[in-house]
Amino acid sequence: MKTTLTTLAKMKQDGQKIAMLTCYDASFASLLEEAGVDVLLVGDSLGNVLQGHASTLPVTMAHMVYHTELVARGAKQALVIADMPFASYQASPAQAFENAARLMAAGAQMVKLEGGMVMAETVDFLTQRGIPVCQHIGFQPQSVNAYGGFKVQGKSETEAEVLKRDALALQAAGAAMLLMEMVPATVARLVTEAMAIPTIGIGAGPDTDGQVLVLYDALGVFPGKKARFVKNFMHGASSIQGAVEAYVKAVKGGTFPTEEHSF
Ligand code: KIV
Ligand code: NA
Repeated sequence: MKTTLTTLAKMKQDGQKIAMLTCYDASFASLLEEAGVDVLLVGDSLGNVLQGHASTLPVTMAHMVYHTELVARGAKQALVIADMPFASYQASPAQAFENAARLMAAGAQMVKLEGGMVMAETVDFLTQRGIPVCQHIGFQPQSVNAYGGFKVQGKSETEAEVLKRDALALQAAGAAMLLMEMVPATVARLVTEAMAIPTIGIGAGPDTDGQVLVLYDALGVFPGKKARFVKNFMHGASSIQGAVEAYVKAVKGGTFPTEEHSF
């Protein structure tokens, strides 16, 4: 049975953790959902892990449409979310709709945008027109140049307040899911408790409604510097399938992430 937003809302209600991984092709889509992954994210992290770029900024709509088509073809059960790449949605709600529609036509069931309250108008525009939105707050990789590096977001009390205000505004605008990246665990917990919609964390501690990792990090394939929140699930596994099953089991059982992966 195909996982839908209704499925995920029910999982949050029942206190069942949502297991998400990034995915970029049909074979992995099939393998990941067989191993129990609920949601596949066609992440613009493909700019880093597939294309070898130092950031996600060079990723284009053409790249995202192509990989969304591949993943959607392989995914029979898992919900497919596609990232909107840099400069495909920030200019206006109309620009966002035009590009989001291409990703939906490519087989995505939801799109993901980066940005806080400034994106609320766009979230409203998309959701009112039938495109579900997952909003990515906290550390936003497309804004790495504005941050001046990889920095945990929401550390000070003021920053934490802004994060919570943004989360509530985005939910009110119609966002159906909220993803928090590199946020202190305590802040991610407070935001999650305040939200009716499911929250997904990466580097956001154990108390979000679900977890996501970049597939190539979870399998120890990516050669770059390992972030604190990354765990290589190939350790102790005898196959890729086994490693992904271990990830799903750890997320569902609440044994990943632990404090060593959190801020
Ligand atoms: O592109 C991506 O992989 C992401 C995750 C890090 C959440 O946005
Ligand atoms: Na992304």
